[in-house]
Amino acid sequence: MTSEPDRAEAVGHAPVLLEQVVAALAPAPGETVLDATVGRGGHALELVRRIRPGGTLIAIDRDRGNLEFAGARLAAVFDILPPAVETEIGSPDLGPPLRLVHGDFGAMDEITTSRRARVDCMLADLGVASVHFDDPERGFSFRFDGPLDMRLDRSRGATAAALIDSLSESELAEAIRLLGEEPFAARIARKIAQARESAPISTTSKLAELVREAYGPRARRSRMHPATRTFMALRIAVNDELGSLARLLAAISAAAEAIATGTASWLAPGARVAIVSFHSLEDRAVKHAFASLADRGLATASRRPIEATAEEVAANPRSRSAKLRIATVGVPASTRS
Ligand SMILES: C[S@@+](CC[C@H](N)C(=O)[O-])C[C@H]1O[C@@H](n2cnc3c(N)ncnc32)[C@H](O)[C@@H]1O
Repeated sequence: MTSEPDRAEAVGHAPVLLEQVVAALAPAPGETVLDATVGRGGHALELVRRIRPGGTLIAIDRDRGNLEFAGARLAAVFDILPPAVETEIGSPDLGPPLRLVHGDFGAMDEITTSRRARVDCMLADLGVASVHFDDPERGFSFRFDGPLDMRLDRSRGATAAALIDSLSESELAEAIRLLGEEPFAARIARKIAQARESAPISTTSKLAELVREAYGPRARRSRMHPATRTFMALRIAVNDELGSLARLLAAISAAAEAIATGTASWLAPGARVAIVSFHSLEDRAVKHAFASLADRGLATASRRPIEATAEEVAANPRSRSAKLRIATVGVPASTRS
């Protein structure tokens, strides 16, 4: 298994819980794998190696640059030229074993139904890739000055600057508190509301400066950069990350229900689903969705998440908060309770 820690810098992201994801999904030759968040292709590479010969990968990402980067890496494994990037609504007639879909996994029904896809393994590795934080132009990081954008898909939606401009002070405080788990959310929202009266907040450095001011002398005592939680909250809000996850979980649930009634669905009977989350609200949503499927006899699901080993956390600190949950949908009727 190539865990690629030494190449992560060149690739722009180190896949987390790689061995555990591959073991849980157990892809076999000829199967169809759907990577809902292909990112830089780290997980997908290992999955694809196991579905050859035959086998199809449907790779989705909201970030076109990541999708194209992963597409080039993956095409080499399939020994084909990188295929053209498709939109969410695709044709069932295209033949290549690698499909690159620029879109939101929240539109899973449209993505899979239009392609008549039948998926044996699905992975969603939520959030952003390391490469997002390294590009000042994307506006995800307070480490550099750049435009306050934060959109994963730069072809649609409102930027973080526009969101900050449009929300009321109390809505801002609520978003920063809930999505960032930031104890000084109200203070930060007040600072932002005061500052935007004289000029729009359009850069990462301006926002970071305002958060620092809101923290006051506490900023020096804070273990992490005071703006960490505020930036995370805005990123989640800008991309409606919880909304997309809720729609994905609803699509998985609907597919499991369809399998139970013998109706065709985008997930094949016995399909394995793996979701890696990095935020407590995301993990809670996945945990409840999988538990509900298990309680209704529609899936078997792990009750406890799989977490990174101390070795992985040491090599890749980002893996510290990763939680992997797995469900197998369409449990044969004989094994249902
Ligand atoms: C943690 S990275 C995935 C890394 C990937 N597993 C790898 O090994 O390189 C998450 C990726 O998901 C994408 N993403 C986040 N939310 C998405 C959504 N709702 N739909 C599609 N892609 C999404 C991001 O653009 C990012 O590239």
